[in-house]
Amino acid sequence: MEKTKAIFFTILCVFVSLSSAIVDDFCVADYSFPVGPAGFPCKNPANVTVDDFVFSGLGVSGNTSNTMFNSAVTPAIDTKFAGLNGLGISMARLDIGVGGVIPLHTHRVSEVIIVIDGTIIAGFIASDNTAYFKKLNKGDMMIFPQSLLHFQVNVGEIPALAFVSLASAHPGFMFTSSSLGSNDLPTEIIEKITLLDAKQVKELKNIFGGSPN
Ligand SMILES: *[C@@H]1O[C@H](CO)[C@@H](O)[C@H](O)[C@H]1NC(C)=O
Ligand SMILES: *[C@@H]1O[C@H](CO)[C@@H](O)[C@H](O)[C@H]1NC(C)=O
Repeated sequence: MEKTKAIFFTILCVFVSLSSAIVDDFCVADYSFPVGPAGFPCKNPANVTVDDFVFSGLGVSGNTSNTMFNSAVTPAIDTKFAGLNGLGISMARLDIGVGGVIPLHTHRVSEVIIVIDGTIIAGFIASDNTAYFKKLNKGDMMIFPQSLLHFQVNVGEIPALAFVSLASAHPGFMFTSSSLGSNDLPTEIIEKITLLDAKQVKELKNIFGGSPN
């Protein structure tokens, strides 16, 4: 009986030590360790200050002139915003130039967008291949359910500004075109697995820095 209790207690301790968000108020990221599936290890609470819970980077427009897509995503996630580590939330600022897009992408968790300025068409593709898309104006919000491919296109006359909130401190963004074009897979394998032709694959690799072959 005592032995059973001891085992139960041990299991409970392991569970509790893995569930820091349940037993602690917060777990500010300690950047001297690598991030893992549960986030960063916690900084010693004695060294935590209010500044760990404040992030000022989203007040500044992203530079939309330096990408293929005429847009910029400025994330406030656990790698930059230590206080939200382990809490299951993050945000990002989207700046989309006239005619620009946030290209097709996915992440592990659901997202909500709110449009602050401009007019965009936002949408996602469900796992049965139904496309849900709509024109959104200032003040409109939309949900992109977890892991579904989604996008935003500026269809207005002015630069668009939107903020998104994501249900993870570390959402794991994957952009379809850049994922295809920035890896070291041989061109012939990418051709086979996508039905793109060699010229198109090489163009993507050239744009996104994948291996030349
Ligand atoms: C707390 O911060 C001080 C000075 O910034 C540092 O010397 C000390 O090692 C830190 N303590 C811990 C436990 O991280
Ligand atoms: C934006 O990026 C472009 C290309 O990288 C650069 O030439 C330009 O100076 C940047 N603009 C600002 C305001 O940083």
